[in-house]
Amino acid sequence: MKKIFLTCIVLMVVTGCTQMDFLKDKLSIVENGPFHENDSSVELPEGSGLGQASEDNLDELHLEASFFNETITVDGKEVIQNASNTFALVNKFIGLPSNYSPDDLVTPDVPFSFENKNLEKSKLRSEAADALERMFAEAEHSGIDLYAISGYRSYERQNQLYNAEIQKVGEEQAAEVVATPGNSEHQTGLAMDISSLSAGLKLNEEFGETTEGKWLVENAYKYGFILRYPEGKEQITGYMYEPWHFRYVGEAIATIIYERDWTLEEYFENVTKTKDSV
Ligand code: DAL
Ligand code: ZN
Repeated sequence: MKKIFLTCIVLMVVTGCTQMDFLKDKLSIVENGPFHENDSSVELPEGSGLGQASEDNLDELHLEASFFNETITVDGKEVIQNASNTFALVNKFIGLPSNYSPDDLVTPDVPFSFENKNLEKSKLRSEAADALERMFAEAEHSGIDLYAISGYRSYERQNQLYNAEIQKVGEEQAAEVVATPGNSEHQTGLAMDISSLSAGLKLNEEFGETTEGKWLVENAYKYGFILRYPEGKEQITGYMYEPWHFRYVGEAIATIIYERDWTLEEYFENVTKTKDSV
């Protein structure tokens, strides 16, 4: 409850919504998944699936219905049914089916911190892999050397990592840094952990202080990636600051999130659901 209240205060500042409105929304996330009731349907001209961001008019934020999570409750957990949606919101409250694996995983042609490209962690969905290649190439052009550390992770692999972290630090602390199986963005095939030689190829907070980490914060959105777990937004995302974890959502949404200093949760709190154009 304390967490929900803190989250409410943070988002009230960001969105200007009232405490009651927001608390209701937040509780709706916990109990039902976030988007069951927010069904305002505004018909847009064909081809305008992604709304344009505007600094002062939230009504201009539109997204077609099929790009929102469709969830069902399984054993008390919210499980996404349209799991291959590029804009899927996966977090502590909303997960993927245990048998979901993207069918278009490929290995991007970028430097990795390891040799064996057959490992599943070298893979991303093809659209995200193309975007990652462009981002790494542009970074290199600017003298920024990035290394891919960990991409796609199956449900089974996440289960292993989660249990190993529990052994190390206990369940409460593990939950702040590692997602429970089914609730990791890595299972979408749209997230890549990135580091640099200057950070010893490690995934730690120091990476955020390096030239490479700073370059990513300012430039990743141009290639459709967002810093998914920013500092100061822990109460919203549910996770500690992770300067290394980048999630592909496409350029349009990444730009909106970058310009407004939002998380993916905040984007979906504010976007208006519209009818599908076809
Ligand atoms: N470290 C992120 C939260 C994950 O395990 O997916
Ligand atoms: Zn990650």
